[in-house]
Amino acid sequence: MDSFLNQLSVLVLLLLVTPSALAQTKVGFYSTSCPKAETIVSDTVKKHVKANTAVAPGLLRMIFHDCFVHGCDASILIDGSDAEKTATPNLLLRGYDVIEDAKTQLEAACPGVVSCSDILALAGRDSTVAVGGLTYKVPTGRRDGRVSLASDTANLPSFRDSVDVQKKKFSDVGLSAQDLVTLVGGHTIGTVACQFVSYRLYNFTSSGGPDPTIDSTFLSTLQSLCPQGGDGNKRIALDYGSGNNFDNSFFKNVQNNRGILESDQSLWQDSTTQNYVKRYIGIRGLAGLTLNVEFAKAMIKMTNIGVKTGTDGEIRKVCSKIN
Ligand code: HEM
Ligand SMILES: *[C@@H]1O[C@H](CO)[C@@H](O)[C@H](O)[C@H]1NC(C)=O
Repeated sequence: MDSFLNQLSVLVLLLLVTPSALAQTKVGFYSTSCPKAETIVSDTVKKHVKANTAVAPGLLRMIFHDCFVHGCDASILIDGSDAEKTATPNLLLRGYDVIEDAKTQLEAACPGVVSCSDILALAGRDSTVAVGGLTYKVPTGRRDGRVSLASDTANLPSFRDSVDVQKKKFSDVGLSAQDLVTLVGGHTIGTVACQFVSYRLYNFTSSGGPDPTIDSTFLSTLQSLCPQGGDGNKRIALDYGSGNNFDNSFFKNVQNNRGILESDQSLWQDSTTQNYVKRYIGIRGLAGLTLNVEFAKAMIKMTNIGVKTGTDGEIRKVCSKIN
């Protein structure tokens, strides 16, 4: 009797746990319900990137910032005076109009079928493809969340976070140190505002001098790109010399003390993360890693964080508003 009760409780436990454990995405979720869904998204991303290349990194960063807060549920897209998009780390995100453009077309083609969170995940992939990354299949079937609060964004990594804090913030959402290095490799494209760089160049931590980890010849380059007391909104490439290509030069820059963000350069100061950086560069004696291959895997992992597939989510009609 005891063991029967035990088995029963295991069964009950399984039934309770299963719905969320089964909450998962699959490749081709819209193949019958909206066959054109993926093409509509990729054509829209291509069109916008063609008009403005900065859209590609903008969308890649947006999916990261969405997934780290309440899971990948398009909570970043919701408008409101206290919504996620109003939080400091999200103020410079760009590409909202691209998602809304795709959504408008999708609502015309298949009303009420394709979620904003899936549009974001697909657009994240299409944006790297648009700048030379290899394509990969994105599992879909996410539903959109109904909650978006600026106060929930504290788990987003900051450019001043130590490697330990970066690792912790990633592991809190189920991502490893390898995923961290791989995904930060997304900084192979895009730009940063001088306001997040200048503090390293002139009077770092009140020392009166620059961040000592910056390569000395590179320092003067950075100082001329972001002059002391200059325009904090001026934007410079995160991957010096190769900011518009999805390639592994970002990791070479980190190796050469030419990382732009303090958090990027710090990946070289920790032995675990340094090892992954080295493997991307292809250092003799280490098992090599290929950014395009690993990036696809890590993106699939990241875009499955906290996915909603049941009544915990909805299919928004407009991406900036809950239904
Ligand atoms: C420790 C983790 C990370 C930190 C601290 C960080 C921080 C930053 C900062 C400060 C910027 C500059 C924002 C601006 O000035 O507009 C930036 C830009 C960017 N980040 Fe990250 N990031 C991290 C991880 C990631 C990940 C995981 C991805 C994507 C897979 C990513 C993709 C991007 C892209 C593409 C840009 C350029 C955005 C643009 O050009 O509009 N970052 N990041
Ligand atoms: C650097 O900053 C500290 C603290 O704000 C200040 O006391 C010091 O005078 C500054 N040094 C220079 C060279 O500006």
